[in-house]
Amino acid sequence: METDSTSSNANSTAERDRARSAAWFISGDKLSPSPFARDLFQRYSRIPADNIAAHIIAVREKAWKVYPYPCIGSFRFLDFAIVESPIYETVLERLKNGAKYLDLGCCFAQDLRALVHAGVPSENLFGADLQSDFLELSYELFNDKDSLKSTFYNGDIFDLTSFQLATSGIPNPVPFQKLVGDVDILSARSFLHLFGQEQEFKAACQMVEIMKDKEGSIIMGRQVGSHEPGFHSISLGRREVFRHNPETWKGLWRRVGEATNTKWDVQAHLVDIGAEFRDSIQSAELADIKGRAWLEFVITKL
Ligand SMILES: C[S@@+](CC[C@H](N)C(=O)[O-])C[C@H]1O[C@@H](n2cnc3c(N)ncnc32)[C@H](O)[C@@H]1O
Repeated sequence: METDSTSSNANSTAERDRARSAAWFISGDKLSPSPFARDLFQRYSRIPADNIAAHIIAVREKAWKVYPYPCIGSFRFLDFAIVESPIYETVLERLKNGAKYLDLGCCFAQDLRALVHAGVPSENLFGADLQSDFLELSYELFNDKDSLKSTFYNGDIFDLTSFQLATSGIPNPVPFQKLVGDVDILSARSFLHLFGQEQEFKAACQMVEIMKDKEGSIIMGRQVGSHEPGFHSISLGRREVFRHNPETWKGLWRRVGEATNTKWDVQAHLVDIGAEFRDSIQSAELADIKGRAWLEFVITKL
């Protein structure tokens, strides 16, 4: 994958991608957190109301320097998409009853914080990301380093043995290798869409390995999709990715099921991306974005 690899060229790659990604960077004065986000920053993070915007902008600056993902530049990390998931209430109930949740490619792990804010015990929640700096910045953004009991790991989905503990101060933290095969609900939000077609397939197979081998285990999320599925060249890393509609997404998961000897029920639908986001994609992406939409999915083990 040509992005934020740990190679010696990583810095210059990030620098070049930052230039290519510049159109995604929305200026701080356009920031307008939703009522949900405001409430969470005030009541969960205890940031005074008149300081919320400045606080978010300052942390966003640092994250953009780590790697220029569009969701960072465009403040989309302030969308707490899990609360809009069709299975949000089910997820809440299962997690409150002890199920384990992993936010894979979590970056700021905003959905994880939304779950804690909704009353889920933070001990049941785990986050993992390639970039340890994002995990540190997530504590800074949500001001919860001393209170959150969730465990974070730093590693690469293509090598499950690479994941290391990235959390301190938690009694008896679960090593990632023990979490493998024990996750009930995995969120892969804006994650698989980062990869080219074969890597996407490999990453999805790795996700299956992380899941508990039990009927009802769930892989959920939202990523960029399209009413006109096909290969798109994207600005970030100038690479080719496949943008799915529900049918091609189901095809991917049939292939993953065959390769991993598992069966999955795949529910997916396209959600309108909204005019404002469409405008920013239009100016930033190399591809023709006609048909672009969010692909919302719930994949349940049979
Ligand atoms: C586009 S961001 C999405 C972040 C978050 N899930 C969200 O929806 O706001 C993708 C995240 O995946 C992480 N990532 C990229 N490649 C990865 C890999 N090979 N293994 C684990 N995480 C990876 C990145 O560091 C980044 O934080």
